[in-house]
Amino acid sequence: MYHIEPTPSVFAGLQRQAPDPLLSLIALYRDDPRPDKIDLGVGVYRDAEGATPVFAAVKAAELALLHNQKTKAYLGPEGDIGFLEGLTPVVFGDTARPDDLVSVQTPGGTGALRLAAELVATGRPRSRVWMGTPSWPIHPGIFEKARLEVRAIPYFDQVSQVLDYDRYLNELGAAQPGDVALLHGACHNPTGADPSFSQWSEIADLLQRRGVVPLVDLAYQGLGAGLDEDAAGLRLLMERCETVIVAQSCDKNFGLYRERTGALFVRTRPSQQTVVRSNILQLARCAWSMPPDHGAAVVRIILETESLDLGWRAELAGVRGRLNALRSDLSASAPQLQSLGDRRGLFALLPLTSGAVEALRANHGVYMAGSGRINLAGLNEATLPVFANALAAVL
Ligand SMILES: Cc1ncc(COP(=O)(O)O)c(C=O)c1O
Repeated sequence: MYHIEPTPSVFAGLQRQAPDPLLSLIALYRDDPRPDKIDLGVGVYRDAEGATPVFAAVKAAELALLHNQKTKAYLGPEGDIGFLEGLTPVVFGDTARPDDLVSVQTPGGTGALRLAAELVATGRPRSRVWMGTPSWPIHPGIFEKARLEVRAIPYFDQVSQVLDYDRYLNELGAAQPGDVALLHGACHNPTGADPSFSQWSEIADLLQRRGVVPLVDLAYQGLGAGLDEDAAGLRLLMERCETVIVAQSCDKNFGLYRERTGALFVRTRPSQQTVVRSNILQLARCAWSMPPDHGAAVVRIILETESLDLGWRAELAGVRGRLNALRSDLSASAPQLQSLGDRRGLFALLPLTSGAVEALRANHGVYMAGSGRINLAGLNEATLPVFANALAAVL
């Protein structure tokens, strides 16, 4: 008789990870039979009919791509160069030309953030990443998975709905040269609260003085006040700081979500460009080898075709107008919500306890993240007053 030792499992060290609470919310919403239920938990734009339509400019570019694309051969690890060059003025205005930047196409903004994290971890493993919290819940994990230390700074007071700017700036002052400050370019997720232009200017001065590197997460450009307005903070950083990293996403402003379309841009001192580029390309090669083509090709075609570019800008203005109208209507519905009108983007973090969030779901069929974050685009003219009434009952 042989005694057979159990084979040690390669997975023995794994611990069960908590499921994404937003995904369980989707299932709860789906199974709720109430016809007047309201879904404010989703992370994507919705029109007044509750659809997330494909932009007409995207459809037209896809048709052109279908007819004209001659090959599916690999693009290379930097991705679609025309996409990167077309995007550069949209993001940077006249603060950078393509040659001033190391640019690579990435699988969405998330891919760009992870690549940025790996680049920093390779270049300076002891860099700490300072972020205002609450932030997008994925942010800390992206940097921690790259073995970087995350330093959270309280950024927003949910009860008073006020941006805790002085505290933020004060605590950021402890960052060391070579540390990284993660900043939401516009439409802060989840609060919608962005620094004012003069606050951006103070932040830029502080980062420049202390040699802290800004990493701008630009996932909602154009959904706030306008394409240029939403990049104003970033462009200020470009004027003041030598090194600037940008993780850009086209998934919201072109409505390309599942096409995973984004880019990483790094502006560094010219003598470092070659070494930075070679490291970015090597990290990308070892992560996804080459980025997916379709979304970036669509964006390239839109940006290089005047009529499509104009059409896209007009559609984006429509998205922005709807979000801002919903904001101002909701902000007028209760004194506690007044500041919502000054915020921007898809999201708002309402002054609600978890008990109130639960009561809204149980008693009113209103679904939102447990934190009190709502996606304004889940509302329309008919449901906004219903939601406002339900809120009044719990506020
Ligand atoms: C703040 C922020 N950054 C980055 C992303 C990532 O976008 P993508 O879908 O392009 O990966 C998101 C997506 O929700 C986001 O909210």
